[in-house]
Formats: sequence, C-alpha cells, structure tokens
Amino acid sequence: MKLQNVLTTKQFHDPKVLNELFALAAKIEKQEKSIVKKAPLQGKIMAALFYEPSTRTRFSFETAMLKLGGEVVSTENAGEFSSAVKGETLQDTIRIISGYVDAIVMRHSIEGSAKIASEISTVPVINAGDGAGEHPTQALLDMYTIKKELGKIDGLTIAVAGDLLYGRASRSLIDLLSRYNNKIYLVSPDQLKFPEGHKQLYGNGMKFEEYNNLKDVAAKVDVLYMTRIQKERFASEAEYLKLKGSYILDKSIVSMMKKNSIIMHPLPRVDEINRDIDSDPRAAYFREARNGLYLRMALLHSILN
Ligand code: NCD
Repeated sequence: MKLQNVLTTKQFHDPKVLNELFALAAKIEKQEKSIVKKAPLQGKIMAALFYEPSTRTRFSFETAMLKLGGEVVSTENAGEFSSAVKGETLQDTIRIISGYVDAIVMRHSIEGSAKIASEISTVPVINAGDGAGEHPTQALLDMYTIKKELGKIDGLTIAVAGDLLYGRASRSLIDLLSRYNNKIYLVSPDQLKFPEGHKQLYGNGMKFEEYNNLKDVAAKVDVLYMTRIQKERFASEAEYLKLKGSYILDKSIVSMMKKNSIIMHPLPRVDEINRDIDSDPRAAYFREARNGLYLRMALLHSILN
C-alpha cells in the first residue's frame, strides 16, 4: 500500500486498503520498541500546519513522526504565527513549505482547503480537519478502535450523536461505517441534524434512523459515538448556548447499554459525557485517542517510507 495524499475517507472505501492500514497499525503497536529503534523515517521531515486548535491530532501526528525516526516542523497557530497574518495566501504558504519538507499535515477552518493545498503541494498533504468538511484520519482511527474493541467493523449497530450538522469527525466516520453493512442511528437536536444532502454524500445510499434522544437508542447499540457541539461553527454565541448541554451521557443512560458495547468520542469533550463514566470499562475514548498514535504512525509510514 503506497499512499499519497490523505484528503477524504472516500480513499479508504476499498476494504483491502483499510485492512492493510489496520494490520500495519497493529504491527507497529506490537513492535513499537523495535520500530522506534529502526527509525524507518530517518531524514524525513513532516510539517504540522495548524490554523485551528488541536491537541490530539497535532500531538499524535508529531509523536508518530518522531517515533518513526523523522523530524517535525510545526506551527500550532498558523493563522497568527505564519505569514497568513501578513496576507499571504494558503496557496503561497503551501508552495513554500512543500519545498522544505516531505509531507504536510494541515488543519484549516475552510472546507476544501486540504484539497486546494494538495493541488499546489509537491509533497503529500494529510487533511487533519478542513473546517466543517472532513476529518479522515480521525475516522480511520475510530474504525481501527471499533475493530480492536469489538473484533469487527461490519454488522454493528452504531449511534452517532451530537452535532451532526457541523461535526467533521462524525461525517467522516459515517462515510466509512456506511460502507460496511452497519445500522446507523443519527441522534441530534433538530437544529443540528445530519443534512439531507450529506446522507447521500456520506451515507453511500444507506437508510438512517433518526432520533432526538440518547435514551431511545442506548439499549440497542454496540457503539455509542458521542460528539461535542461545534461552538466555533455557530454564527453567534447565543445560538450555541441554546443547544449547549442538550446531550449529556450520564450513568442512568449508560446503565441501559449492553455489557459489551463501547462509548467513543473524538474528544475534546465539553459536558456531553459525565466524568463519572470514565471509569466504566465501556468508556473507550481514551483508548481511542491512544490508537490515534499507531494509526497515524501507520499512515506516515505508508506515505513516506
Ligand atoms: C475533532 C475535530 O477537530 O474535528 N477533534 C479531534 O480531532 N479529535 C472533534 C472536535 O473538535 O469536536
């Protein structure tokens, strides 16, 4: 498997590609020490160009690169600390950076920006989130987590809950899940429903069941995928505040869930999962974040080795 750019989950619709990637991530996880020693990406440099806030995505990509023996140049606030402040276009910035490094991991607030960058860049571009667009590497690590936790990625019942209007992590995950004969429940307030157009675009022709309430799906699911209401995408704070707190997973709802089900969340969480659930064995979100490191090591290895 030789990957170039990673721009959308659509590149991973072929089960063979996904399986190869997961096998590599699992191998890296198992043989971490010896791979770190071998340093397969020695001499390679990855740029992390982030125009939007990030903790997990940037740190895990950077750690992944360092563990593979490569090096990293990084800006965590490119909107303020790069020449964007001086009025440089994204196109010019990418043209310059791609002359310095071997791969660019980019997060930007504009939907479609990763694709634009890839058209100019002379090195592979990895989309680490393009506004309300896509977040393919998150969806890949989510699928990898489901596989690890439940042993399969098909034939499952999965509820995707929260902000389905603006959430890019949920959108990308739905695109992959809907390829694998899963039943998907969409759970959101009416104002944050998964847009009709997206059902076609990311639903791959599947029929969704829609709900307003976590209680209505809790007992039925194998995976409950929670998401944060995407405050930064609202037109005003007042609009956000109207919906803030409308979905909260608490012990009473978790108690309805099957014993061998799991709770996932791309994180960061705000108030949508009560902290007293963290110690429940079904709470998989911290394991999920850790899996991101291995999945991103596998991606960088496939692209740069
Ligand atoms: C997600 C994102 O940035 O879209 N976070 C992440 O990368 N783990 C989810 C979110 O911000 O809510």
